[in-house]
Amino acid sequence: MRLKNKTALVTGAASGFGRAIARRFATEGANVAIVDLNSPAAQVVAADIGDSAMAVRCDVSNGDEVAEAVAAVIDRFGKVDIVVNNAGWSHKNQPLMEVEFAAFKRVYEINVDSIFHATKAVVPHWRTIGGGVMINVGSTAGIRPRPGLSWYNSSKGAVNAMTKTLAVELAPDGIRVCGLAPVMGATALLETFMGLPDTPENRSKFLASIPLGRLCEPEDMANAALYLASDEASFITGVILEVDGGRTI
Ligand SMILES: NC(=O)c1ccc[n+]([C@@H]2O[C@H](COP(=O)([O-])OP(=O)(O)OC[C@H]3O[C@@H](n4cnc5c(N)ncnc54)[C@H](O)[C@@H]3O)[C@@H](O)[C@H]2O)c1
Repeated sequence: MRLKNKTALVTGAASGFGRAIARRFATEGANVAIVDLNSPAAQVVAADIGDSAMAVRCDVSNGDEVAEAVAAVIDRFGKVDIVVNNAGWSHKNQPLMEVEFAAFKRVYEINVDSIFHATKAVVPHWRTIGGGVMINVGSTAGIRPRPGLSWYNSSKGAVNAMTKTLAVELAPDGIRVCGLAPVMGATALLETFMGLPDTPENRSKFLASIPLGRLCEPEDMANAALYLASDEASFITGVILEVDGGRTI
């Protein structure tokens, strides 16, 4: 039980990587809050986990809703030790000149503003309880950007930089801030990222660029997040852990 007596809030936990992270945290003894815009799906995940889970409907791009979500979790479980900022979204893979400003803005609201809001909501609490862990889900897209996802790539570059700057400024408070940078995974976002139908031919083109030869599985993210969230990583902060089968080499 690597997260016994801990409470974790995972955004975007109704699906994909976030759901696998929340489930794994629960099996390791944590109380978990399944925070997502998709309330029915969040409730299914929470019910499946059982009494140690709660579902919270929240739009992570809205500061008031994020503050309310953090307060609701503290109200139910007494504290929050771990926040995983995982909820994310992208415009579809297309030439950068074709992306409308509304889509650009939404990408930044969900991927970047959300981390500002989560920080504002949880750091005062962490200063009271003596520390905490934040894990931000960036992407290989923010390290080795490729054409077609330009504005999304830049938002993930911001996520990766936020992780490092938060880590250094919050370290004196006993707060660790780390990042995960997954390569493409077989989640709901797959076709958005590929910009092509999910056919074996299109997948194999992409797989050829990953030295270990497969996509990122939700379990790969859960394993990496568990390590960073656990006390085994107590001297680790500001790292962006690439969960990418060697893609960014
Ligand atoms: N799947 C990939 O190939 C891949 C690769 C690199 C990085 N990522 C990142 O991983 C993270 C998780 O993505 P995923 O692939 O599991 O996608 P997903 O679509 O399966 O899950 C994303 C979840 O976020 C929720 N969400 C979206 N907007 C929200 C909002 N405004 N407020 C609250 N919840 C919201 C969705 O309802 C969904 O449950 C994202 O940050 C994504 O950018 C994914």
